[in-house]
Amino acid sequence: MADLSDWIPYDERSYEPLGPKDKLHIKKIAKYSANNYSPYPFVVDRAEGFWLYNMDGHRAVDLLSAYSAVLKHRHEGIIEAVENELRYGSDLVSRALCSRAFAEFAEMICTVTKYDRVLPKSDGGSITDSAVGALFMHGHKKGIKEPEVILTTDYFHGRALTFGANAFFDEDQYYGKLGKVNGIKVVDHTAEAIKNAINKNTVGIFIETHKGEGGPLFTKKEDFLAIKKVVKDNNLFFGCDEIQTGLGRCGYLMAWQEFGEEAKPDFVTLGKALGGGVIPVSALLGTEEFMSIYRPGLDGSTHGGYPPACAAGCASLKYILEEGICEKSLELGQYFTKQLNEIEGVNAENRGLLIRLEIEGVKSAKPACYELLLGKNRDPRVFMKYGHKNYARIAPPPGAIVKETIDWVVEKTLKPVLMYAKEGPEQAPLIQKN
Ligand SMILES: Cc1ncc(COP(=O)(O)O)c(C=O)c1O
Repeated sequence: MADLSDWIPYDERSYEPLGPKDKLHIKKIAKYSANNYSPYPFVVDRAEGFWLYNMDGHRAVDLLSAYSAVLKHRHEGIIEAVENELRYGSDLVSRALCSRAFAEFAEMICTVTKYDRVLPKSDGGSITDSAVGALFMHGHKKGIKEPEVILTTDYFHGRALTFGANAFFDEDQYYGKLGKVNGIKVVDHTAEAIKNAINKNTVGIFIETHKGEGGPLFTKKEDFLAIKKVVKDNNLFFGCDEIQTGLGRCGYLMAWQEFGEEAKPDFVTLGKALGGGVIPVSALLGTEEFMSIYRPGLDGSTHGGYPPACAAGCASLKYILEEGICEKSLELGQYFTKQLNEIEGVNAENRGLLIRLEIEGVKSAKPACYELLLGKNRDPRVFMKYGHKNYARIAPPPGAIVKETIDWVVEKTLKPVLMYAKEGPEQAPLIQKN
């Protein structure tokens, strides 16, 4: 019989950093950093495989490597490729000259993705800027005075949209506010809503194939194809943000490939895993027709095409293919999701190893996520990210975890925490006072 005297509901618990060194570093960040994030109080000192180590000797299983890599933390092959470029190649920072490394990267990424041309940048926000900016340039070229681009609700395309700065942020509603910006229309993620929004000024549609930060929320094949049809019937450009979903995460090199060749967008953006977690690399890939929008001087950045970043990009692509990351994501994603759905009070849905976990009966998944990482004596500690509503996102590194890791994490930590995450101590034998 459970000892209910030990029960403290999750949302009444308070969580401290796990030791004095973490505490000290958190203080430094609080003192010197802009207050633009509210991180978990866990200070990563070192990362390896699927592990994150803090300053005080604790470690946590990283179930959110989507922020960096699909392979594993500090992949030796990628580090070696970057090191070789730095030691024996060039650190040229400019595309005012050509470089061997950029030539190799451009050829490789176009060959692998079957797009005609690439524009390189460093982060996801600025490559989004390039993609949407290209649509506006296309509109102006066609003589449209006030071109419009359509996005869909619950999107997240980063925070560097120069055409609207941060106007899309809103304290009350985090996502879907870019509608305030001139030329950007935000409508429901349906073919019908897009069709109704198209007018003579519309130049293109840009969506996440599956929405990462907003859920994740997954797009069904028929809905995706219906959206593409509306866009093409109106002779517009169709682009997909694959920064989070791409490069094997959802079981395909680009998540749209799940829907077949007819789904192919005119352009896609890639980021995150493209640098293997070692160097920030992003890319806009497009058909000849879409990429012909560009003329010298219309876009570019100092670090876009930086040789060590190109080396990281080539190595990431090579290892993603060699290590069968797409296949691993499909298999492990299905396995993990099935295990999660066996936990009482939890619903899980996935595309490969991008998993949405919904905890029934709670307002937010935040308290459960804090308990997983910082709860008293949790072993193993687990890092995953609470999101919208009562959702959490699980996206471990497919190149590092195996079925045994999943079994272990589910049995030892996820099950005991998630089963009792909803308020009420009715049956909480495994919950300890923090
Ligand atoms: C779908 C998507 N697009 C764009 C971005 C922005 O990327 P970055 O943070 O590298 O600017 C993100 C980041 O989470 C993302 O998930």
